[in-house]
Amino acid sequence: VSRRGLLAAGGAVAATSVGVAAGYALAGQPTEPAAAPEADDSLVPFHGPHQAGIATQPQTHAAFLAFDLRGATDRAAAVRLMKLLTDDARRLTAATPVLGDQEPELARTPARLTFTFGFGPRFFTQLGLMQRQPSGLTELPAFGIDQLKPQFCDGDLLVQVCADDPLVLAHAVRQVTKTTRSFAKPRWVQRGFTQPRVALHGAEVSRNLMGQLDGTVNPVPATPDFDAVVWAGPQTGWFAGGTTLVLRRITMQLDTWDELDTPDKELTIGRRLASGAPLTGTAATDQADFAAVDANGLPVIPPFSHMARARPHQQNDRFLRRPYNYDDSNVESGADAGLLFVTYQADIAAQYLPVQQRLAEQDLLNAWTVPIGSAVFALPPGCDENGYIGEGLLA
Ligand code: HEM
Repeated sequence: VSRRGLLAAGGAVAATSVGVAAGYALAGQPTEPAAAPEADDSLVPFHGPHQAGIATQPQTHAAFLAFDLRGATDRAAAVRLMKLLTDDARRLTAATPVLGDQEPELARTPARLTFTFGFGPRFFTQLGLMQRQPSGLTELPAFGIDQLKPQFCDGDLLVQVCADDPLVLAHAVRQVTKTTRSFAKPRWVQRGFTQPRVALHGAEVSRNLMGQLDGTVNPVPATPDFDAVVWAGPQTGWFAGGTTLVLRRITMQLDTWDELDTPDKELTIGRRLASGAPLTGTAATDQADFAAVDANGLPVIPPFSHMARARPHQQNDRFLRRPYNYDDSNVESGADAGLLFVTYQADIAAQYLPVQQRLAEQDLLNAWTVPIGSAVFALPPGCDENGYIGEGLLA
């Protein structure tokens, strides 16, 4: 709507006074210098050896956007796209509007905004870069428990956007969607939320929609263990310092879950609901004792509980979990809630697959959860002030 249109519509008095009071003309151009970002400690640095949004303490809101490259997008166009997306991310994560930003005010709250970019297997094929596809980037096989819906699967380009403020997030998502438009078309968007992490019994955790404390056993950022589990090593060439992402959209059958009493819910996972402690301990951080038996000689933690099946069985089958809850329930389609189960690991085939296979074979939790979406991406390493994400692959 033009200024003339607004005036003609009779909204002139209200619209003009709001515009003037806020120090902005109706055309959206600032009439005085913009205020400085509110709190510097809520800026997450964009530049570095690794992309942000992985080791970053999970923000409370996330959007995962997948795009398919348009047929005309070749390697040179992909370079332009990644330069533009990097520029958007560099500005927005510094609480600075992007070029031509039509709602610049929405960019000025830092809110720990992060962008994380990834390439799906077809990105490498379409651009003729198959030789440079990381060996650990493997499409997941079909599992017996899966009921996958194409609208939540695959994708050539991933943009993960996370922030503590849903308005900042929505604005950032809109900007990257605009930037991407002529190079790739949207395939799916999945939005999630979580609680601010709380320190409970020594662990930093938040709850999922089944009420469980989720994220207790996880590699700890900035430790050699985390580095070994998450970041691709120097032997991976251009990919060193990158990682891979698996996103499984898992719907929860909460109505039947709620028919269980608390002890049965706890046996399903192997941990207490209130404290997150393993059934053999008292604090969330206590080591689980999988050999412990009760007075009847039965294992205290059932061998088919989620935790007993998911815990490492080999040296290498570990990853970082950074899940988000989703709830897209509505009156027409009814309950639609669950988990965007998101993991990061140097190598999907070596680290993620064995665990997923074990859980697909047997896991008490499967009676109330169904995977309905699945996608994998290679997340390139980070970049410096002069570079762009994906440079090592595309340049
Ligand atoms: C642990 C919930 C799906 C892998 C846990 C825990 C909970 C949980 C409550 C125990 C607390 C913790 O350590 O965080 C769920 C729910 C899921 C789900 C509700 C689906 C809706 C998956 C999937 C995988 C997985 C698909 C892997 C393919 C793990 C691992 C652990 C774990 C590795 C840590 C086990 C340990 O070492 O103790 N999950 N999970 N989870 N989960 Fe899941």
